[in-house]
Amino acid sequence: MLFVTNGHLKPGMILAKDVYLYNNNNFYALLLTKGQVLNNSYIKKIHSHGIDGAYIESIGFEDIEVDSYIDDNLKSESISQIKDVYYEFKMSSGKINDLTVKRLSSIVDTLINEILCKDDLTYNVIDFKNFDNYTYHHCLNVAVLSISTGISIGLSESELHDLGLAGLLHDIGKMSIPVEILNKPGKLTDEEFELIKTHPISASKFLENMVSYKVLRAIESHHEKLDGTGYPYGKKADNISYYAKILAVCDVYDALTSDRSYRKAAFPNEVIEYIMGCADTHFDYEILNHFIRIIVAYPIGTFVKLSNGKLAVVVKNYSENILRPIVRIIDDDGTVGEDVDLLYDNDFMNITIVDMGYDYSNSGLSAVLESTYELKLNK
Ligand SMILES: [Fe+2]
Repeated sequence: MLFVTNGHLKPGMILAKDVYLYNNNNFYALLLTKGQVLNNSYIKKIHSHGIDGAYIESIGFEDIEVDSYIDDNLKSESISQIKDVYYEFKMSSGKINDLTVKRLSSIVDTLINEILCKDDLTYNVIDFKNFDNYTYHHCLNVAVLSISTGISIGLSESELHDLGLAGLLHDIGKMSIPVEILNKPGKLTDEEFELIKTHPISASKFLENMVSYKVLRAIESHHEKLDGTGYPYGKKADNISYYAKILAVCDVYDALTSDRSYRKAAFPNEVIEYIMGCADTHFDYEILNHFIRIIVAYPIGTFVKLSNGKLAVVVKNYSENILRPIVRIIDDDGTVGEDVDLLYDNDFMNITIVDMGYDYSNSGLSAVLESTYELKLNK
């Protein structure tokens, strides 16, 4: 399968993976199934939900499989629970009951079990995030990424539990901020930003007797930065809780790879570059070293542009070096060529990936994509 971005999706392409979207009742559910042939109406649906693209069947790439990082049903159930808890918080001015937190706790346990069972912790997938439901989906992703980073660090299961719970609850304080400010397309005024800056404290205040001290401190400090330029308190490195430092990395990574009202999502490679540039100023260097072992710069199935001018598709990633995967070369006429190991094959040491490969003027890309919508006819 290949990952095809929104603008390149055409009628006749065949979905290689189920597409989950938010339906009219705002429930995260299966809307388009694997094997479905895309038509204009489906493509419009994908566009209107603001998702980045879809995985498509393609000759020459049948061996590329992209599994969901966590089971889609679990994801759907988790998002629905997060939504209920956040809504309860909003409607009751912060007075959520113990049972509600227990429900989230059991979601965290299920997530930890699922992630611990994985053979490979690499977050090798482009995730679909919907604009309207950003907060709930984002909190789940931050929890999942934090748990995976925590496993890589070697945290115990009870530590992973606190970390995951903090991930699910970290932005609950945003429920007391008007949606118009949270989703404002333009630049925030100073006053509006001051209001946004209250969300970590309001969350920790309301959750005080419901979650452990460590969870509270993590939620309260997830926007602090090592150099003291973060908020709400401007704490410096030694005074920031360890879990908060993990949440901070996962929070920024997931936020920047998502579409927001004020900007488009960035590809993982761009975000990784940004995050690495903030090592030791905003983020803890050791934590980053674990984080970059669980995420990838170029997810499997995506097109990339090489420094020799060739187009290629990512076939396999190495956690030991996320910038140098195995790629499958595509010639200018769309012919699918050999696999090249950018990490271990000495003949290709001088070649680097320079960008993602979704350039509309690339003839190899057009030819490969054309072959995908002819696929149905050829069967
Ligand atoms: Fe936040």
